[in-house]
Amino acid sequence: MEKERNNAYKAHCLVLSYPTQGHLNPMLEFAKRLEHKGVKVTLVTTRSMSKTIHKEASSIALETISDGFDEGGIAHAESIQAYLERFWQVGSQTLAELLEKLSSSISGNPVDCIVYDAFLPWALDVAKKFGLVGAVFFTQSCAVDNIYYHVHKGLLKLPLSEPEILLPGLPTLQPQDMPSLIYDLNTYPAFFDMLVSQFSNVDKADWVLCNTLYELEPEVVDWMTEIWPLRTIGPTIPSMYLDKRIEDDKDYGFCIFEPNSDACMKWLNDHAKGSVIYVSFGSLAALNAEQMEELAWGLRMSNSYFLWVVRASEEAKLPKNFVEETSEKGLVVHWCPQLEVLTHEAVGCFVTHCGWNSTLEALSLGVPMVAVPQWTDQPTNAKYIMDVWKMGLKAPADEKGLVKREAIENCIREIMEGERGKEILKNAYKWKALAKEAVDQGGSSDKNIEEFVTTLVHS
Ligand code: UDX
Repeated sequence: MEKERNNAYKAHCLVLSYPTQGHLNPMLEFAKRLEHKGVKVTLVTTRSMSKTIHKEASSIALETISDGFDEGGIAHAESIQAYLERFWQVGSQTLAELLEKLSSSISGNPVDCIVYDAFLPWALDVAKKFGLVGAVFFTQSCAVDNIYYHVHKGLLKLPLSEPEILLPGLPTLQPQDMPSLIYDLNTYPAFFDMLVSQFSNVDKADWVLCNTLYELEPEVVDWMTEIWPLRTIGPTIPSMYLDKRIEDDKDYGFCIFEPNSDACMKWLNDHAKGSVIYVSFGSLAALNAEQMEELAWGLRMSNSYFLWVVRASEEAKLPKNFVEETSEKGLVVHWCPQLEVLTHEAVGCFVTHCGWNSTLEALSLGVPMVAVPQWTDQPTNAKYIMDVWKMGLKAPADEKGLVKREAIENCIREIMEGERGKEILKNAYKWKALAKEAVDQGGSSDKNIEEFVTTLVHS
């Protein structure tokens, strides 16, 4: 039976994100897709994150809860583990308070559902306490989710001891293709626990939403759909860059860092079609100084033009005088409007850390990649980029894990000038078309979002 409402919205969803850029971006875009289908959405993040993001006028309402560290977030906790424990405790409490506030307001928009980040499984308990639909949202690829599921179930024994890992729906993986938190259990044990805990109560979730598109990972999606009510809803990229069905769509980004938009776009406008290498390692990865140096000289040796995002916190690692000495060839900025950059015709290749958002964005916008994975899910994404989707090349690392300048130069040259580059570009056109189709009217992800909304209305 449909609920009584005193306005035009079909339902009201809270969309709760883990407080990092790589999680907020896809959840914001999913929120926009829901709103387009007539659902009211309240996006929820932490107070500390809300203070740092640049909020341009967005149609999506934003509310906050507390992670227990309202000034500074995780950076102010004594350990990752302490942060996550406190977030669970204070987050559950303040999420409940937010629900009470919203249900007692006279807006006529009772909350029906919490779409919560899989990193925050305790949100499902809060949803159930309030009698709401609980939909878990996985921000990473289904392949990566499946790997952690097998660890959770004890079906993948750790530490890894076999030279090859065979899991349902996945290609044969070597240990170094696995998420770094699994390959090297000593790096961030608290994050490892968090990733495995995504599955602690997933069986109780009403929906399992995955930020991917069916066409990218059909075998693993089919396999996981046998277990859960799983639906693919991606790519979570603004409609303005894909299907263009959302009128007046904007790329709000809710950026933690201020993009240097004018300088980037002006510089790109001055360069020929397909002549620029775009380089970015996302919002979190910190390269060591040696790797930064190899990357810098690899770019220089490729003799291509490059637009390189080096966050302010990483800038000191750039080789001395590099920016000045290469100013004829390159522009180095602290942050850029990545989607606008990837869409620009001057960009011919993306040197990326293979964060899942960057990977999906490059696939969906048809930009070939040089994969230089750093940590977490990135090695697995890199394996798929090169061997499954054939959308790029993974730059080989030496025995110490360092990607040398020659490796970077060779991969760039192969993509920009070589025969393999032509094959990769053909695949890039294919994935770009499939990504648009998935979110366009009647596409695989669009149908899934439609089904989710219809079921909500009748729940
Ligand atoms: C993190 C993890 O590293 C990643 O592996 C995981 O899948 C999600 O969370 P992050 O490292 O920041 O994210 O990388 P990524 O997933 O690529 O997200 C970065 C986002 O910031 C992208 O949406 C990208 O478009 C945006 N971005 C990046 C900008 O808008 N401007 C920039 O200059 C750089």
